[in-house]
Amino acid sequence: MGTMLVTGGAGFIGANFVRMALKRDPKLDVIVVDKLTYAGNRVNLAGLNIEFVQGSITDAPLIDELVARADTVVHFAAESHNDNSLTDPSPFVDTNVVGTFVLLEAVRKHNKRLHHISTDEVFGDLALDDPARFTEHTPYNPSSPYSATKAGSDHLVRAWVRSFGIKATISNCSNNYGPYQHIEKFIPRQITNLLTGRPAKLYGTGAQVRDWIHVDDHNDAVLLILEKGRLGETYNIGADNDHTSNKQVIEMICELMGGTYEHVADRPGHDQRYAMDSTKLREELSWRPRYTSSISEGLERTIEWYRDNEEWWAADKVAVEAKYAAGGQ
Ligand code: NAD
Ligand code: DAU
Repeated sequence: MGTMLVTGGAGFIGANFVRMALKRDPKLDVIVVDKLTYAGNRVNLAGLNIEFVQGSITDAPLIDELVARADTVVHFAAESHNDNSLTDPSPFVDTNVVGTFVLLEAVRKHNKRLHHISTDEVFGDLALDDPARFTEHTPYNPSSPYSATKAGSDHLVRAWVRSFGIKATISNCSNNYGPYQHIEKFIPRQITNLLTGRPAKLYGTGAQVRDWIHVDDHNDAVLLILEKGRLGETYNIGADNDHTSNKQVIEMICELMGGTYEHVADRPGHDQRYAMDSTKLREELSWRPRYTSSISEGLERTIEWYRDNEEWWAADKVAVEAKYAAGGQ
């Protein structure tokens, strides 16, 4: 793949992706461009032989220069947290929509291969008792400012494919968990709550269902799409874990770690159920997730990682919890 430009490579999924890509091909030239927002951390890429550029994907001259040097662009950079998008949607529009537009213009000008990372949330949600799963043909119906801006970015990519013939693929993935995930997110928040003597915090009743996937399974699929995916196509990524409610996940964490949880204020507009149908990816590209049917193995490893890497998260914990407490969460 020559030189790969990875946007948002200092974030959770991007950093795990860069680690996996270099492990598979140590000769790969990787340039990471990342703004280093509160969610980005240079330490996530420590020890890797890469070129790191601190900058925003909304900076058109910078992005033009970096895309010109790359063979492939993998686009992870985004504002990614739903709760934040409810308090201030503005950076979500900037990065997720305008930033993607800037990147697309550079990809078009320099005729480079692009893979755009997106989410199952673009499809909206299913009722809790609806056994359906989202396919690549499910109409878009996003609920939050975050998911609306991701939906907007997907539409832009498709329009650039159709109107300008850019060489792009898209993947829509379900909820990831694993190492280096910011402690604002559900699973690491609960783990670090218990590690610091706080109770775990469950929004509302906790009946909501997320289709959990280990970050390595997500990134394995992305590498496969880069290698063998058909240009212009979208692939859903999910590991068939759409049967565990938030309440069950929190109970598993409490049981594994020894701790308790409490119910806190629900998220406004809270999506109920996500479930991904990844048949296309499995049939066309023979992708198989490693962490299947239950999240307990991946969860145990993730708990271990946060236990072993307290210095990675401890400095943020008080501020993250103060922010949640202000909203009754
Ligand atoms: P994250 O918040 O952990 O990381 C995002 C990274 O993007 C950070 O390093 C941040 O500094 C960087 N960034 C933000 N704004 C930027 C800008 N303007 N210019 C350059 N860099 C910028 O997010 P994540 O969970 O790793 O998600 C990565 C991608 O995967 C996002 O596009 C997200 O929508 C998508 N996704 C996430 C999940 C999930 O469960 N976390 C699931 C499906 C898809
Ligand atoms: O579905 C993919 C999406 O998954 C990604 O596109 C997003 O970037 C990613 O943040 C994630 O979105 P969610 O909103 O589903 O993830 P979050 O970790 O914020 O919450 C997961 C579920 O847990 C959700 O139903 C809300 C609930 N929750 C969350 C937190 C932080 C709690 O019950 N307690 C909490 O403390």
